[in-house]
Amino acid sequence: MMKLGLSIRQLGYHAGAWRHEDVPAAGAMDIDHYVRVAQIAERGLLDMVFLADGVALRQRDEPPGSLSRSNQNVELEPLTLLSAVAMMTRHVGLVATASTTYNEPYHVARKFASLDHISRGRAGWNVVTSWSQAEARNFNREEHLDYDARYDRASEFVEVVKGLWDSWDADAFAHDKATGLFFHPDRMHELAHKGDHFQVRGPLTVARSIQGRPIIVQAGTSEQGQDIAAASADIVFTAMIDLQPAQAYYASVKGRLERHGRAAADLLILPGLLPVIGRTQAEAEDKFAHLQNLTHPLVGLQNLYGPMGDLSEYDLDGPVPEPKDPELRSRAKVLLDLARRDNLTIRQLYMQASVGRGHRSVIGTPGQIADTMQEWVEAKAADGFNIIPAHLPGGAEDFVTEVVPELQRRGAFRTAYEGRTLRENLGLPPPTSRYAATEA
Ligand SMILES: Cc1cc2nc3c(=O)[nH]c(=O)nc-3n(C[C@H](O)[C@H](O)[C@H](O)COP(=O)(O)O)c2cc1C
Repeated sequence: MMKLGLSIRQLGYHAGAWRHEDVPAAGAMDIDHYVRVAQIAERGLLDMVFLADGVALRQRDEPPGSLSRSNQNVELEPLTLLSAVAMMTRHVGLVATASTTYNEPYHVARKFASLDHISRGRAGWNVVTSWSQAEARNFNREEHLDYDARYDRASEFVEVVKGLWDSWDADAFAHDKATGLFFHPDRMHELAHKGDHFQVRGPLTVARSIQGRPIIVQAGTSEQGQDIAAASADIVFTAMIDLQPAQAYYASVKGRLERHGRAAADLLILPGLLPVIGRTQAEAEDKFAHLQNLTHPLVGLQNLYGPMGDLSEYDLDGPVPEPKDPELRSRAKVLLDLARRDNLTIRQLYMQASVGRGHRSVIGTPGQIADTMQEWVEAKAADGFNIIPAHLPGGAEDFVTEVVPELQRRGAFRTAYEGRTLRENLGLPPPTSRYAATEA
């Protein structure tokens, strides 16, 4: 059975989504919009909804006028938002992103443990290290921490959070009104962590998570990212466009598990997948073309700005010029080669470059989309997918009403939730407390 998440950030992944006639343009600030999407996910028996996040307005106004035409600027804070969604759903897992660079472990441990209790065992933490200058500038720095420093901090951060989540044994609380014993003192544990980055005494002021500990998701592809995933993650969220690199990545991450005393089945790898679904191929392509045409040219050009510079002075329906920067960077070269090979105009190039943002996209019928999903799972490139809808709520609705039944007919996806918690639904083993051995 494949595992499925649904990315529910903002209004969908397509740059033109907010202008679509079915999309509530103010939805990213409207709890009703998110509740509606999460309830669609739950109707489709999906494992979880997923919120990517950043702690700054990362986009720049390049070319001028692009920023004010993009919808990626305001949204609800993920944990606050998912606490509200928890009250309006019963089964679907709730995964939020929190940065290890701009938080303290105690904060993160406490918030996710609380979300786990509020949702009765459905919380997950997507561990990211944050990468942008814009975020650094919101947290007392001019420059963001370099790569190794971020990952060094992240490894210790995750260990501390896991330690804090073991603060209380599952049966720590006696609540014995007759004797007056509130908790068994030997079932509370002080972490007393002293490391390079953190000194954290503990214990956490939240009881043990209902699912043992919240699910840990890791979204990073480098060696360091893969090592953190192998050591601690339950799920890896990854961006893969082609089958072969996805298989290599899958083998590489799973190959690291044994070193950490873990089995291959203990970690699920979920690449992103952007489906555009039609009853026929032609209908799917029409839907896609409609979205593409809603991309404002300045927003499209923003996607080319980093590698190619400002192309706003050129004819959008003319050829792609040689970038002025003589030191062609690798991404610029990839784009230029693509444009030359397929004889693309500037408009066609930005449209291609902005689809899926590094994730695989499939435009087709429910059968075709189910085929490619099954192919990836059978080829050991994925254990399931994080669906990143082009627009919301329509993209989620299409997936749940068209693709989910197709997967179910093929026996590739559940027909009822198996368990009560996210961990049980994912089929992952319950975690053991680090203090369990000493107690036995
Ligand atoms: C699929 C995927 C999703 C990500 N989502 C986020 C996110 O929501 N917020 C964030 O700050 N970084 C996000 N990142 C960035 C990573 O946390 C990390 O900073 C970046 O991938 C660089 O590390 P790497 O070289 O190990 O991949 C994501 C990365 C990937 C691959």
